[in-house]
Formats: sequence, structure tokens, C-alpha cells
Amino acid sequence: MNREDFPMLEEDIIYLDNGATSLKPKCVIDKTVEYYSKYSANAHRGDYDISYKVDQEYEGTREKVAEFLNADSEEIVFTSGATDSLNMIATGFFAPLIEAGDEILITTSEHASNVLPWFRLQNEKGAIVKYIPLDSNYHVTLDNVKKMVTPNTKIIAIAEITNVIGDVRPIKEICKFAHENNIFVVVDGAQSVPHKKVDVKDLDCDFLAFSAHKMYGPTGLGILYGKKELLENLNPINLGGGMNESFDSPSEILLKDIPTRLEAGTPNIASVIAFGSAIDYLNKIGMDKINERELYLRKYLIDKLIKIPYIDIINLEADSGIVSFNVEGIFSQDVAFYLNKYKVCVRAGNHCAKILKNATKVTNSLRVSLAFYNTESEIDTLVELLSNKDKIVKEML
Ligand code: ALA
Repeated sequence: MNREDFPMLEEDIIYLDNGATSLKPKCVIDKTVEYYSKYSANAHRGDYDISYKVDQEYEGTREKVAEFLNADSEEIVFTSGATDSLNMIATGFFAPLIEAGDEILITTSEHASNVLPWFRLQNEKGAIVKYIPLDSNYHVTLDNVKKMVTPNTKIIAIAEITNVIGDVRPIKEICKFAHENNIFVVVDGAQSVPHKKVDVKDLDCDFLAFSAHKMYGPTGLGILYGKKELLENLNPINLGGGMNESFDSPSEILLKDIPTRLEAGTPNIASVIAFGSAIDYLNKIGMDKINERELYLRKYLIDKLIKIPYIDIINLEADSGIVSFNVEGIFSQDVAFYLNKYKVCVRAGNHCAKILKNATKVTNSLRVSLAFYNTESEIDTLVELLSNKDKIVKEML
């Protein structure tokens, strides 16, 4: 679907690593070039036409992102990526609030960027990171969340969709329960916002972090959504130009309002502007259609993979385009090298989810992460390549 929009698909490759980064449609590439060739000025600083144009485009993207998430535009902060957003939330908002003994609930299937910032709060502030148990499919249930909550629980920080298991968490139900118990909910949306409709008001999450490059946008740009009253209390990690109203001495510093206060220095202007085109593009196709297509492709792949006796699928049950598996007895990276010989791009290893092995007992895996532009025929090629174990062993090195 829509393959003609992606110049990379003219290359001789089968790209099945969309969880790492997605390909970019021509409209996003063109918008980047348009900025650099037609109005390449700084944002929020100039008193001339091309600078006003930059401001219009830059703030226009903020409005598009806000509308996309059903947020208010002042609740949208541009960061360098989901990792940056999550670190800002942990360090800028929670570090000053958290006290020794406060508990933070995460899961073992989180990506490093939703583990390490919380580990830091444990190491530096005496908070206690605890793990919500996963069920037999490695999914999170509301019951398991409830079992882990104590009077000391302050934060639940979980991905809406995880990057190896690909399970969709019941975020709305978790938020409702959490808020009844005065617990904040931080959602890592890196693998969900590009693939399904996410409505922050409906979910009622407190914070949401995601990256533009995984959702057909440019690299180096992330989004931090926070409820307005919470963002107001997020200490800027970076201080500098653009985010201050005035300063005369250390005791006389006046900062701007959110979200500008949280975007010190010259921002990633080209990426922000081009991301606006990615949002337009996604809206034109429709997130429900994208989700439906990816779930269809997942089923198509699973139905075929399951027939190969020496393939162990780790996440048989998951409502996303992520399929993780191993070829029995062969190191995942060796299989990835073999597939690469046939120009098939998949990710292998632990996928930065380094404590997931505590639940799955599997250290490394191959991961196919699908996007709407993948095809049945690409999946057929992958499955055919995996269908001959002798050939894998012979050609893998
Ligand atoms: N977080 C990205 C992935 O899962 C890089 O591949």
C-alpha cells in the first residue's frame, strides 16, 4: 500500500525493520529540501519574511501534532527523540518530586530508554523500581498492575506497545486505576503512535513520549506530550537562548511559558517542519487503515512462520506488526547476516530490551517489524529464505 510514495522502496531491498526506523515518504523529503532551499532561517528570532515563514511552519507542526494526539498545542514539546523526552520527564519532572522509598512500576519488556532514567531515580534518589509481572504471553494485565501497587507507588512508566513483544497495553484502564490512587502514568509511545490512533485525552495519560523517525518523519526529532499543569512544573534541563524572557543576574531570570521554555537553543527546525508533512501524510491514509493493514500483514506472516518446525515465535499473541522469533540452534545475528545476503533487512539481538530475558529466558531474537507499505510478496520471500535450515547454516557466515 502506498509504496510509490517511498523512494527507498525503489532500492533493491526488503525493509522489515520499521521498529528501528521507518522509511520516509517523498513529501517529507521534499519538505526538508524546501526548508533548506527556500526559507532556511532560524525560528523565533528574526524580523524578516523568511523567518516569519519558519515560525509559521514550525508552530504549524506543533498544532498538527496536537490535533493528531487530541492534545492542546502548548502541551507539545519538541525534543531530540523519545529517549530525550523520557529523560526530560524523569529528570525534569520526577527527580525533584520523588522521595526515598517511592516506587516506580515498569516492566521487564521496556526499551532501555524507559528503564535507565528510572534506574537513575533509584540510584540517585532512593526510589525503588519494581516490575509489573507479565502474563504467559508476556503481556501486561490490569490485574497485575493492581497487584503491584502499594501506597508508595508514585509512577507507572510503560510502553503502549513494546519493541520486542509488540503487545498493546491497556493504557486507558491503567491510567484510570492509577489516577484513582494518585499515581502518575508515563507512556512510551515510540512503537504505538506510528501504528495506531492515540488520543491522549481518551487515554488520560500524564506524559507521552515518541520519535518522529519511527513515524515516517525525519530523524533527530521527538515529541514530549505532557498535561499542561504537569509541563508547567517540568524543570528545563537545558537553559539558554529562546527559552528565557529576560535575565539580569542569577536571581533575576524570567523564563518563557511552556512549551517554549522547554526548547532551549536553536531547535531541529528542518525536522520539525518536515514532520508536519509526515502527519499530513498519515492523516490522509488514516491511522485505522494503517493499523488494520499492519495487523493483516502480521497474521499473514505468523500463519506462514508457524508452519516452519524449527522456528520459535516469541510473541505469538500481539496486536501489532512486531514479530520476534528464533531459528532453533542458530544465533539470531547469523540469521540476520544470511537474510542480508538476500537484501532482507531485519533486526537481531536484544533490541535494547535487555532485561526482557528475565521473563522470556531468550537473550537474542530476530525481529520483523512491519509497516503498511510491506507486502505479502516480501513476506513470502522472507519465509522462503527461512524455510531451508540447511541453506541458512551453509550461507550464514
Ligand atoms: N528502539 C528501536 C528499536 O526497537 C531502535 O529497534
